[in-house]
Amino acid sequence: MKPLSITWKDGSLSILDQTLLPGSVVERQLDTVESVWDAIKTLKVRGAPAIGVCAAYGVVVGVHRRNPRSTQDVVQAVHDSADYLATSRPTAVNLFWALDRMRRVAHEANGASASDLIAALEAEAVTIHEEDRALCMAIGRHGSSLIGEGCGVLTHCNAGALATAEHGTALSIMYAAQAEGRRFRVYADETRPLLQGARLTAWELTQAGIDTTLICDNMAAQVMREGKIDLVVVGADRIAANGDTANKIGTYGVALLAKAHGIPFYVAAPYSTFDLSLATGEQIPIEERDSSEITHPFGAIVAPAEVKVYNPAFDVTPAALIHGFITEAGIVHPPFSAVSTTSGE
Ligand code: MRU
Repeated sequence: MKPLSITWKDGSLSILDQTLLPGSVVERQLDTVESVWDAIKTLKVRGAPAIGVCAAYGVVVGVHRRNPRSTQDVVQAVHDSADYLATSRPTAVNLFWALDRMRRVAHEANGASASDLIAALEAEAVTIHEEDRALCMAIGRHGSSLIGEGCGVLTHCNAGALATAEHGTALSIMYAAQAEGRRFRVYADETRPLLQGARLTAWELTQAGIDTTLICDNMAAQVMREGKIDLVVVGADRIAANGDTANKIGTYGVALLAKAHGIPFYVAAPYSTFDLSLATGEQIPIEERDSSEITHPFGAIVAPAEVKVYNPAFDVTPAALIHGFITEAGIVHPPFSAVSTTSGE
């Protein structure tokens, strides 16, 4: 059983606190829109699809807390909650895609009672959640044949069950290859500065019984040169129409290394991660995070507090470095015109 990042039960939202993994497995109930915003901002819940799912439920939580009396009050609460949640993190388009879906339900209220509209909003959030689970499964099915018997696979960050409703994107193809009976090795980049690879991917894959080796980010070139890697597969936070792809900082470097070593580099993502409103990756907003993540990671002092720090959380890999995009519809190539219905923020 893979870990569930988000649970919705009896009208109540809880998440697995990913900042505490792998040391502690702690579920947190989120019963205000502020707590949902904070969970996304502080990476308690993270990964593009999971952020979208959590934000959709966040709108429902925001509406409930407002205790709205009229349909108009509900609509207003949807817009206020969605506007607020949209300020949590800028890069993963799944956030804005999910919030747009919730706004659309409110927009189409057309004479519904307040309680009917609230029920429709909850149903939409559940649909987004269920849909992501199915999308991830389909990604796994379409990509699994890329992992042959004895293959060495490198991944960066965490694009696993924890980053989605379940199964993951990049990791879904590993779970599918495992289910099909093949044995292979995964190399997980630790993923500086917040160690999603070490804390989350290594935890998730070892729990699943997949042969996993953790390496520091700066070891990938050497490991490739030693011939240990046959395939690189990563997730994505936003894919522009030309195929340029934003993903966790360091992904671009891995793609360059893969090119230098003649190793195929794939991106796995559902349609909700494609942003066709952007022609190229240059237009993708890149989140910059607090300097303390680099100077004081996990409470340790590893640099002087007063040093200047640049901390972009994502980079953009040019489409030319990407062999293909593993989606729920199969392996596709840019330019994209009909994969996505996203409108961006
Ligand atoms: O900052 P994070 O941990 O939210 O970044 C996550 C990533 O970059 C993932 O690779 C991406 O969201 C894909 S998740 C299926």
